Amino acid sequence: MDDLRAKVEEIRREFKSLIEEVGDLDALERIRIRFIGKKGEVTELFKVLRTLPPEMKREAGKLLNQLKNEVETSIARKKDELERLARRAAYDLSLPGRRHRLGHKHPLTLIVEELNEIAKGLGFEILTESPEIEWDYYNFEALNIPAHHPARDMWSTLFITDKMLLRTHTSPVQIRVMEKRTPPLKVFFPGRVYRLDPFDQTHAPAFYQAEGLYINRNVSFAELKGTLELFVKELFGPSAKLKFVPSYFPFTEPSAEVAVYYNGEWLEILGCGMVHPKVFEAVGYDPEFWTGYAFGLGPDRIAMIKYGIDDIRLFYENDLRFLKEF
Ligand code: DAH
Repeated sequence: MDDLRAKVEEIRREFKSLIEEVGDLDALERIRIRFIGKKGEVTELFKVLRTLPPEMKREAGKLLNQLKNEVETSIARKKDELERLARRAAYDLSLPGRRHRLGHKHPLTLIVEELNEIAKGLGFEILTESPEIEWDYYNFEALNIPAHHPARDMWSTLFITDKMLLRTHTSPVQIRVMEKRTPPLKVFFPGRVYRLDPFDQTHAPAFYQAEGLYINRNVSFAELKGTLELFVKELFGPSAKLKFVPSYFPFTEPSAEVAVYYNGEWLEILGCGMVHPKVFEAVGYDPEFWTGYAFGLGPDRIAMIKYGIDDIRLFYENDLRFLKEF
């Protein structure tokens, strides 16, 4: 029995020193076979057990089982540890990181944001949201464009019902703002608009507008002119040349268009005028008391001039080769 005890101790010591140093799974498997494999050292001891007299068997059995359990647990624990290390080694920390491709803003978004900033600098409050599906009333009627008015030909659009349509300009927002508030007010509202236009080099069926509205007492055309001059010079630089051309819009009187000189041509970039008395009447403002101006800019046209682009379709085709240029 003492012999057996000594033998168990010897095996335990030997096993412990080996298991502490083992560094890979193959070596660990060799240790397993050496101690608890079919012909392993611990397995062999169990064979000795059979030869012992019955009174010793009990104690010897306990001793051997304890050793076997120790060996099994240690091997299992080591196996876990080595597998975890192997998994971690699969990450090569010396590899360069993966770069995430970041998108950026669309050229028209950049222009709209720039227009907002300029307007803010001129004292306008920015309204970023307004309905693109609009009532006939706001898009036409309240802007002094009654049904069957020939001016409607300037703005053919898609009707959703006979009273509801895709807005053809941002001017209906003028009415929405005035209905809700009392003057003085100075607001600027960019947005998307729709027209029954062909999709060609200079037209798109959906495009952008940005509109300004100022209502107060004694607003003059000179004030409108001064404001737009500042606006355009802020946009195209202090040497930009612009001119006012008389025009017609049902919701302003008098009305004008502003053109900028670019590449040997005068290009129209906005419509403007003094708010028409009929428009004031539609929103319940006294036209004898209040005055105001309004203007509507075309961000697409402005982007084409600023970036030197000769085809509006490029903004809407989502060709990454084009978009990456900005
Ligand atoms: N709504 C006009 C259009 O789409 C542009 C416009 C003209 C807006 C004159 C205005 C304005 O605010 O005063 O053609």
